Amino acid sequence: MNFRMGRRRRIFEGKAKVLFEGPEPGTLVQYFKDDATAFNNKKRGTITGKGVLNNRISEYLMTRLNEIGVPTHFMRRLNMREQLIRQVEIIPIEVVMRNIVAGSLAKRMGIPEGTILPRSIVEFYYKKDDLGNPMVSDEHITCFGWASPQEIDEIMALSLRINDYLSGLFLGIGLKLVDFKLEFGRLWDNDDMRIVLADEISPDNCRLWDVKTNEKMDKDRFRCDLGRVEEAYQEVARRLGIMPEAAQKPESE
Ligand code: TMP
Repeated sequence: MNFRMGRRRRIFEGKAKVLFEGPEPGTLVQYFKDDATAFNNKKRGTITGKGVLNNRISEYLMTRLNEIGVPTHFMRRLNMREQLIRQVEIIPIEVVMRNIVAGSLAKRMGIPEGTILPRSIVEFYYKKDDLGNPMVSDEHITCFGWASPQEIDEIMALSLRINDYLSGLFLGIGLKLVDFKLEFGRLWDNDDMRIVLADEISPDNCRLWDVKTNEKMDKDRFRCDLGRVEEAYQEVARRLGIMPEAAQKPESE
């Protein structure tokens, strides 16, 4: 832990990130760790350099999304592992968008991984680790007051837009966007409230397969012990054209 990290007030520590008090009211510093977990914390490990790469990858993708008018919590990257974000009230829902069958959908439905869906599917999960993030419907979300029907409409519209844009962006660098998970928050401006994209977008919460070989280039390499985990994250960053110098392997290695 560096000196600056030690001095700042820690607001929250998650599995892959730490949130610190930001320099201005209404801001936070999001620190990306190398820690990796899977299957609701049952599998734990470290992916060396992951925090640095995810910080860069998420910065890049959130910036592109901001440019097309998708509001996000991202403000700017501060250094190798930290970015400045707007403080939002996180909506306790994980939104999963799926284009190709994989992971829990393949298991639940008994459909082979790789089956192309006739149209994208949106799923909601209640963000509650103690319960293992159970799948919920919009009825549960509104009934338990986690979000209003209008907020769900906004979240759906943003998620579909993000899926369209990111699917094209990744296809352009030879990657299929199989599925991904998003989180949203409420950003308050006096009495006005906007729904914005929060958390991160990285190979930790996307499935990315090489267009030609279907090779997995994401956290499934860690989840399923496929090896070459660090290399997969580096390759995604390299194809996006944002490979940080420090994370590049020396020629001699
Ligand atoms: P799943 O197939 O395991 O339900 O995962 C769907 C997508 O959501 C996949 O891209 C990985 C991502 N995901 C997370 O980011 N966090 C989670 O806790 C889970 C279960 C999935």
